[in-house]
Amino acid sequence: MKTVIEETYEEMSRTAARMVAEEIRRKPSLVLGLATGGTPLGMYKELIRMHREEGLDFSEVITFNLDEYYGLSPEDEHSYHYYMHENFFKHINIKPENIHIPSGTATDIDKFCEEYDKEIQRVGGIDLQVLGIGRNGHIGFNEPGDELITETHVTILTEETRMANARFFGNLNNVPQKAVTMGLGTIMKAKKILLLASGREKAVIMAELLSDTSVTTRVPASFLHLHPDTTVIIDREAAMEL
Ligand code: GLP
Repeated sequence: MKTVIEETYEEMSRTAARMVAEEIRRKPSLVLGLATGGTPLGMYKELIRMHREEGLDFSEVITFNLDEYYGLSPEDEHSYHYYMHENFFKHINIKPENIHIPSGTATDIDKFCEEYDKEIQRVGGIDLQVLGIGRNGHIGFNEPGDELITETHVTILTEETRMANARFFGNLNNVPQKAVTMGLGTIMKAKKILLLASGREKAVIMAELLSDTSVTTRVPASFLHLHPDTTVIIDREAAMEL
């Protein structure tokens, strides 16, 4: 795992955006895995700026998002569909048919999950997957546990994760209990992975992840130690406990 420490959130975001842009310029039809949450917002802003000012072209890029809340429709302003359109997709020239986000409302959700993984394979697999990390070490919505699931699946969110995300929902009761997420296998098959972490609340988990190379289902992100091409970009605050 390669680690880059930047002084500020803005610098972390710029470095991440530059890496994504470099991959798109190298392969215009890049299959890009995307994350939500607070962390990648600065990266999306920078990519939008690069699109507007430097002509970064998304017309052939294909995206697959990591996860979605179970039960939320795409129109729900708390859904990751809504987040992605508002914070990224509506500002760039991506083709709507090239956007993939797990459905939170599919009638046959298991079938949907199976198709989602198949679709990723059909386009040749994910070239670059952007990840954030939960304070408990989750990636996507793969929560710590006795076992981890390989494929895209429905998962039950931990209280800790629901509490961490309550800030987006007004209060804890409004946070869904479940989510649809890519599995660890789906994520690990990505050719390149970029994990971003920012702020003091991520310092303990980043120290744990970066100082200990053992792999445990108790820290889902620890599986990234097995991945051949993962870069971690963190800001000074997230690096505080290293
Ligand atoms: C959320 C998302 C993850 C995200 C993580 C961290 O629950 N499902 O994909 O990486 O938690 O979020 P944040 O960046 O807001 O700290």
